[in-house]
Order: sequence, then C-alpha cells, then structure tokens
Amino acid sequence: MTIEKLPPTAFDEFLAYLNDHLSDNGRDGTAYFQPLPRDASRFPPEKAEAFRNGLRIEVGKPGWRRAWVARADDGAIAGHIDLRGLPENYTRHRCLLGMGVDRKHRQQGLGSQLIAHAENWALLAGVQWVDLQVLSVNTPAIKLYERSGYRKTGEIPNMFLLDGKHYSYTFMTRRLR
Ligand SMILES: CC(C)(COP(=O)(O)OP(=O)(O)OC[C@H]1O[C@@H](n2cnc3c(N)ncnc32)[C@H](O)[C@@H]1OP(=O)(O)O)[C@@H](O)C(=O)NCCC(=O)NCCS
Repeated sequence: MTIEKLPPTAFDEFLAYLNDHLSDNGRDGTAYFQPLPRDASRFPPEKAEAFRNGLRIEVGKPGWRRAWVARADDGAIAGHIDLRGLPENYTRHRCLLGMGVDRKHRQQGLGSQLIAHAENWALLAGVQWVDLQVLSVNTPAIKLYERSGYRKTGEIPNMFLLDGKHYSYTFMTRRLR
C-alpha cells in the first residue's frame, strides 16, 4: 500500500471514492460516521467545492486543506486522510483531521498508517495540535484515535438527529509537540 498526497487534479476520482465510502454511513452494521441521514449520505456539493479549492490554498491561510490517499496494488483508493484549518482566527497552530478506510481494507492497520503519515506532514508544516470530531457511536474510529494518542476533550450529547435517533458528538485532540 502506498500513501500519496492527493493532487487537485485527482479530485474527481477522489470524490467518487468518497461518495462510495459515504454510502456505508449507518448501514449494514457500520456505525454512523458522518452526521448525515442514510439517504443523504453523499458529500454535499458546496463542501466538495470547498475541499477541492482548499487543496490549492497555502497552508495557514483561511480554507486550506491537504489530503492523502492510500492506493492498493491495482491503483484503487483504499483509504484517505485529510487535514484542514479551523474556521476560527488565530488558530494556525492547529488543524482538523478527517479520514476513512474503504470497507475492503479495514482492520489491517491502514487507519494507523494514515494518521502517522498525516501527522508527520503536520509536524513539518508547523502544526502543533490536531483536533477531530467523531460521532460518539463510532467505536472503531474512537478506538483507533485513542490508540494513536488522541484524548477526549468534550462531548455534546444528542447533537444530531439522524433517521429518527439522536447521536452525540465527541471532540478529541492530540498535541504533536
Ligand atoms: C475507523 C476506520 C478509519 C479504522 O480504519 P482501519 O484501517 O480499520 O484501522 P486499523 O486497521 O488501523 O485499526 C483497526 C483495528 O484493526 C486492528 N489491526 C491493525 N492491524 C491489523 C492487522 N494487520 N491484522 C488484524 N488487525 C489489525 C487494530 O488493532 C484495530 O483493532 P481494534 O478493533 O481493537 O481497534 C475505518 O473503520 C473506517 O473507515 N470507518 C468508517 C469511516 C470512519 O469512521 N471514519 C472516521 C470518521 S471520524
């Protein structure tokens, strides 16, 4: 498995992978991992545009984003991780993490590898803290983050109402240096 930076020119392929990934959200034994109802589990167009544009924005400037993909031997995307700036001013020393591993490639250590890869980049870019948000019901992700050194900083109970049920939101962080 190779992990490579996502160039802006490969964004359409990435978006197709991401929408396939999102089709698992809350279905067939997979916990909700995005705060979207099952039938709306696609990457919203306005967020896709912000993602695409963010890849070209200088790190530290408002809206910046970087992403990496893991590719299987056949070249298909097997997992991804992305880092982006926080919306608040005066937070250049922090970033927000998002990630996922394709259903065929889970439980093989790829999630841990993707986190280590992105954190190495973040350290070199001068980022000191990595923050993330995760649905509290998403036990596989929370276990992975805890194993990778992330600690819970808070939780909003019943933050989302998805398909008739409430879901809490957990906040986690890791200090890189
Ligand atoms: C959460 C998610 C990213 C984890 O990815 P992953 O690649 O399965 O993570 P890892 O393989 O590194 O770790 C998962 C488990 O596999 C185990 N594992 C790692 N390497 C292994 C190997 N070679 N053989 C068997 N098991 C292994 C780990 O010990 C870990 O065990 P655990 O269940 O006790 O925690 C993945 O389940 C996913 O994409 N879920 C849907 C999207 C999502 O939740 N994204 C995060 C939103 S906040």
